[in-house]
Order: sequence, then C-alpha cells, then structure tokens
Amino acid sequence: MRIAGLLLGATALLACNDGARERAAAAQATLEPEVLARMLRASPLPPLPPSPTNPVADDPRAADLGRRLFYDPRASANGELSCASCHDPELDWTDGRDLAQGLGQLEIHTPSIWNAAYNRWQFWDGRADSLWAQAAGPLEHPLEMGATRAGLVAVIADDPDLNRSYTELFGPLPAPISTAGPQLDRAFVNVLQALASFERRIITTETAFDRFVRGLRLGDAEDLAALNAAERAGARLFFGSARCHLCHHGPLFTDFEFHDIRLPRPSASELEPGRHRGIELVLADPLNGSGEFSADRGPTANVNLLYLKQTEHRRGEFKTPGLRNVASTAPYMHRGQFQSLGEVLDHYSTLSDAAPPSHEDAERLLEPLNLSEVEKEQIEAFLKSLSGSPSLHTFGPP
Ligand code: HEC
Ligand code: HEC
Repeated sequence: MRIAGLLLGATALLACNDGARERAAAAQATLEPEVLARMLRASPLPPLPPSPTNPVADDPRAADLGRRLFYDPRASANGELSCASCHDPELDWTDGRDLAQGLGQLEIHTPSIWNAAYNRWQFWDGRADSLWAQAAGPLEHPLEMGATRAGLVAVIADDPDLNRSYTELFGPLPAPISTAGPQLDRAFVNVLQALASFERRIITTETAFDRFVRGLRLGDAEDLAALNAAERAGARLFFGSARCHLCHHGPLFTDFEFHDIRLPRPSASELEPGRHRGIELVLADPLNGSGEFSADRGPTANVNLLYLKQTEHRRGEFKTPGLRNVASTAPYMHRGQFQSLGEVLDHYSTLSDAAPPSHEDAERLLEPLNLSEVEKEQIEAFLKSLSGSPSLHTFGPP
C-alpha cells in the first residue's frame, strides 16, 4: 500500500513543463483529494496478470490455435455452436440477449469477455478459478455446446491445420481417441488452455477516461479535454457521493468480488444460491488450479483458492462486473434484468424495485442515492467514456 501511495504521488506530479504542470495542478484542484486518488488508481489498464497454472498462456502459437477453436462450431452437438455464437466480437463479445441461448435455453445472462483474463474468478458465481477451467463449462454443458471430449479431439485430429498446430505445441493426440481416460482428459485440458491463451488477447483499448486521467497527471491540454463537463461531473459522482467505487474500483472498475445488489428476483420467493454455491463448485472442481491438470499447484499460484471458505453470507451474491466498454454490452446483470444503463441507474438511485436483502447480515453498502435526472445523465455519460475503439483484426474470426 505504501509503495502504491508513493508511486501515485510521484506520477501525479510528473507533468514535465511549467504550463503543463499548472494545468495538471488546476485540474487536480477541482477534485476532492480522495476522488482524485480513486480516479488516478482507475487508469491506465495494468499489464495482464500471469496465469501460472496454464503453461501455454502466453505462447502466441497457443493463442492462434485457441482463436481458431473459439470460432469453430464442429465439436458442438448440433455442429452449429461455437464460443463466438454467444460471445460475438461484433457485439462486444456478448450475444445481446437477456438470457443465453445454446442448444437449450439458459437461465443466466451471457457476460462480455472483454478483459476476462484479469478476473480472479470466472462466471457470475465464480465457480472457475481460471480462464481455462472456465472453458470446460460451455463446451460440455448440455444446454450450451454439448460437446464431448472425444468429439472435440476428433475434430482436431481430422483437420490437418488444427492437427499440425496442436501437435507442434502439445505432442501427439491420444490414440485411439474414443477411449476415455487420462490421455483424453489431458488433450481436453490442452484445448482449454489454448482457448484461454486466445482470450488473454481480448483486452480493451484506451478510452476517453484514460486520456483524461493522463491529462490529470501530465497536464496535456488535449488529454484534459477528452472528457466534457457532463462526463467529468459523472466521474466525480461515480468516484464520490454515488459510491459506485465501493465495488467498481481500480483500472478494471471491479473489486473482483461478489455482492448482492438486491436485483429483482425471478420469483419473489426464489433466492439464487450465487456465490455460496460457486465456492462449493470451485473448491470441488478437478480443473481448479490446485488440481492434477494445473501447471503450478503450489500455494503462490493458487492463493485465492487457499483462503476460500463457504459462509452463509455469500448466498445471493454475484460477481461485480468490470465496466470497461459497458456501454455496448446491454442488457445488464446476471439475468439481463436491465435493458439499458438508464435502467441500471434507476435501480441504484431508488432501489424501488429491490428484492429484500438475501440474508440477515446482508451488505449495507447499498442505499437509495436519490439521484436527480441530471446526475443520472452525468453518470451515464461517464460510463460511456469507458469505451475504447474496437481492434477486431487481432482477434476476429480467422
Ligand atoms: C450458449 C451460449 C454460450 C456459449 C456457446 C459459450 N458461452 Fe461463455 N458464457 C455464457 C454464459 C451464459 C456465461 C455466464 C454463465 C454463468 O456465469 O453461469 C458465460 C461465461 C463465460 C466466461 C466468464 C466471464 C466472466 O466474466 O465471468 C468466459 C471467459 C466465457 N464464457 C468464455 C467462453 C468460451 C471460451 C466458450 C467456448 C468454449 C464459451 N464461453 C461458450 C454463454 C456462452
Ligand atoms: C455493493 C457493491 C456495488 C455498488 C456500490 C455498485 N455496484 Fe454496480 N454492480 C455490482 C454487482 C455485484 C453487479 C452485478 C450484479 C448481478 O448481476 O447480480 C453490478 C452490476 C453493475 C452494472 C452492470 C454491468 C454488466 O455488465 O451487467 C453496471 C452498469 C453497474 N453495476 C454500475 C454501477 C454504478 C454506476 C454504481 C453507482 C451508482 C454501482 N454500480 C454501484 C456491485 C456494485
């Protein structure tokens, strides 16, 4: 913490000439010190965290293989569904639906996978502890892609290009493919790890907000003009009195943890298990980071698992989503409860549609904000300034 504080102080005063230094100081002086500090902490995006449990995480050949598999529907049960069916790059890696639709109808909303490589936990309930463990879910889920391990390996074996790429990276495919067993499982995990390697490229680009924060640090006039007055006012609310930063903080705009924000429930009586069940599942997952398929089973690589405990408090809690590019990933929330950012802000503002807290000692972080129409517009304008320009060519369909 102390080092972070020092760095922050140093970069806040980095402005290089007198004019710039004055502009930076003047812009900083318009903000409450704690709001300024929170803004500086929210940009820029840091380098990707390493993925020690995945030995090919940063191997470009694995990312290339993973990219081809991400768009390949052949292993799905009906031959039509790939990861991109639900995580469509043209729709900011989501599907535009309230609830996901695979082979069957799901009861949960498809999140965008922008910046998923930064997540501490994957899925709304955090039941996977890595991108590669996550990928097993949709592949094998009977309502999503309905693939089998043997079917997936057969697709690779029968395609000369995929076969060559796979063998160069991982060695020979299991033979015969149809025999279930450790060899087939290993080949399956290799595929998952290649998919994860590709997903590590799906990273958002610089936003207007990032340019503004650079302006706050260095005083460049153009950077400081990257946000207009309404967007700046929205940022000040977000990081200040509207208290969004309590959960959406840091450069990913998430605390990487789980909360109950008292969304309308599917039915009045139905309390979803959320993180409570997610903890049970991730601890029991044979593909978790301390399991036999992990490249690093040591405590340092799996420190998150080490401290995980299922407590009653976690019932009804879901993961705080990151907010970069959020303007283009509607609908929102784990069941697509809200169609627009306006509806999201109405919820936080009044809590008039709120379900009762999920448990006795439920969080008290949320309270009605009673935002004015203008304030809601300002926060919405700020959220829209968190979008970068798409760079599809690096990860679109091969
Ligand atoms: C039928 C639609 C569908 C398909 C196909 C699909 N997904 Fe998803 N994806 C979802 C849904 C729905 C969730 C959230 C599920 C949950 O949390 O329970 C999700 C969650 C994720 C997440 C977690 C993101 C986060 O922030 O927690 C990642 C990563 C992901 N999918 C990657 C993939 C990959 C890789 C594939 C292909 C192997 C894939 N998905 C195929 C619908 C789909
Ligand atoms: C108590 C923690 C907490 C606070 C405070 C909070 N959020 Fe959230 N936010 C969450 C969680 C958790 C979710 C996902 C909830 C779910 O789907 O069950 C979420 C979801 C969202 C989403 C939808 C993202 C998506 O991809 O679906 C937006 C937008 C959002 N919050 C914006 C805000 C804004 C703006 C504020 C301040 C007015 C705020 N949040 C305050 C925890 C919080």
